[in-house]
Amino acid sequence: MAAEAKQSGYEGRYVQGFQFYLKHSGEHKAILRFIDSVLPGEFERIGAGKSNLDVLGVGSGAGEMDTQMLSIFKSTFPAVPLTADIVEPSTELTEEFKASVAKTPNLQKIPFVWHTMTSGKYEKQVRGKGDMKRFDFIHMIQMLYYVDDYAGALKFFHSLLKNNSKLLIVHEAANSGWDILWKTFRKELCTKSISDYLSAGDIEVHLKSLGLKYEKHAIPNTIDITDCFTQGSELGELLLDFMTEQDHFHSSLTPELRAGILDLLRNKCSTEKDGRILFDCTLSSILVYA
Ligand SMILES: C[S@@+](CC[C@H](N)C(=O)[O-])C[C@H]1O[C@@H](n2cnc3c(N)ncnc32)[C@H](O)[C@@H]1O
Repeated sequence: MAAEAKQSGYEGRYVQGFQFYLKHSGEHKAILRFIDSVLPGEFERIGAGKSNLDVLGVGSGAGEMDTQMLSIFKSTFPAVPLTADIVEPSTELTEEFKASVAKTPNLQKIPFVWHTMTSGKYEKQVRGKGDMKRFDFIHMIQMLYYVDDYAGALKFFHSLLKNNSKLLIVHEAANSGWDILWKTFRKELCTKSISDYLSAGDIEVHLKSLGLKYEKHAIPNTIDITDCFTQGSELGELLLDFMTEQDHFHSSLTPELRAGILDLLRNKCSTEKDGRILFDCTLSSILVYA
């Protein structure tokens, strides 16, 4: 299916699975550590001498990371007008994002433009209009998996950068548990919203082929998946559903496939500590220069 026609799978039960995963994995906390340690310096360099600042979030979800990055921009340049454009196809997550903006005093003065659509549709719309708004900072956090033409999307969003600006990509690291799981079972798992699994390593190969300069930071993280190995555990089933993009891991997949996935999760994607099984969900952050 073409990227333009595809909607976000992030509605209903899948959103619950995602939010459960976020809570259980501490993924946002890990990304926030990176944001708070690396981005303030980046933003100072990006904003120096500029009379307005424009930020674009692509696949922002409920905006937890966006609100932190926008707050840093706002506190670094309190007198400089700041705008935020958000490209996010999930209506459910966009509503959550709007509610969080409404509750956050320092964000209420920022004009937000909500593009409730996929990145492919946004590209088509922007090209159709012919006037491309350009940005000082664009971020794509944990979303490129869902874009069929990721190479085209990278090229397009990079072309929207102003001078002296950056594109941030946060993505599952090469050789992380996710990379091993999804590449080993690519044929069986890449049947729903992810049509071909992509790791940060694949993105780097592509950036190099485009001749783009970037710097990379590791965001180490693990998630305790011990419950996935306890028969009848509801928590384990929810985690497995999200990790393999199934509605019900135990009823959707054959016993052989389930056994293969569980064996790989335990023996190739995780380490054991104090009797707990810790899945490697390290991320890479890639800051691409304009
Ligand atoms: C794993 S979530 C990440 C959300 C957010 N960036 C975060 O880190 O919390 C993936 C997000 O990408 C969005 N998404 C899926 N397909 C998309 C597409 N084609 N274009 C833009 N966003 C998309 C989903 O709706 C979802 O909000």
